[in-house]
Amino acid sequence: MSLEPATPTPLLTLEPERPRDAHLAEALIDRAFGPGRFTKASERVREFAAFAPELSMCAWAGERLLGLARMWRIRVGGQPAAFLGPFAVEEGERSAGFGARLIARACEAAEAAGETHVVLVGDEAYFGRLGFAAELGRRVIMPGPVDQRRVLVRALGRSAALAGAVGPR
Ligand SMILES: CC(C)(COP(=O)(O)OP(=O)(O)OC[C@H]1O[C@@H](n2cnc3c(N)ncnc32)[C@H](O)[C@@H]1OP(=O)(O)O)[C@@H](O)C(=O)NCCC(=O)NCCS
Repeated sequence: MSLEPATPTPLLTLEPERPRDAHLAEALIDRAFGPGRFTKASERVREFAAFAPELSMCAWAGERLLGLARMWRIRVGGQPAAFLGPFAVEEGERSAGFGARLIARACEAAEAAGETHVVLVGDEAYFGRLGFAAELGRRVIMPGPVDQRRVLVRALGRSAALAGAVGPR
């Protein structure tokens, strides 16, 4: 009798997005968001931000793209920051932690590249446990209308340590 699970968990590799991944990435984003994709508030950011493929992560099981987290370079109040999105995992592969791993890896890459903050538009119920907070996003002004409670920011590295500090000294 085999003790193998019916659907084995695919061996996942996380890699920065390459130019040749673009068509698979775009198709996955279309499936995840449908025709509403281009009405999202975060699309306005991407109209003027620079794509950062070296910070954008793709999750692969062999040749299958299971998920991705794209990153962009923006400025907030004159300071450089990274913007994360779109972020999606293929429907049949969700709830296995791939999303959390993609976010962790994209944030690690951003920190290694010297970024201090990652901004996104999403649900704090999900992103809160990944280090993002609406509190930090309160003063970020997004282009176009957005529910400000969904503007979330994660402080990276030393910024993260200081963000949790209290007291005047
Ligand atoms: C959001 C998404 C990328 C998460 O991918 P994932 O690989 O399933 O993420 P994880 O495995 O790390 O976490 C899954 C858990 O988060 C929960 N979750 C997902 N989206 C959530 C949300 N918006 N609010 C609260 N919880 C959420 C899931 O229900 C799941 O809970 P479970 O473990 O109890 O089943 C995926 O659900 C997706 O592609 N959704 C459609 C596109 C989308 O909404 N992208 C985010 C836009 S900001």
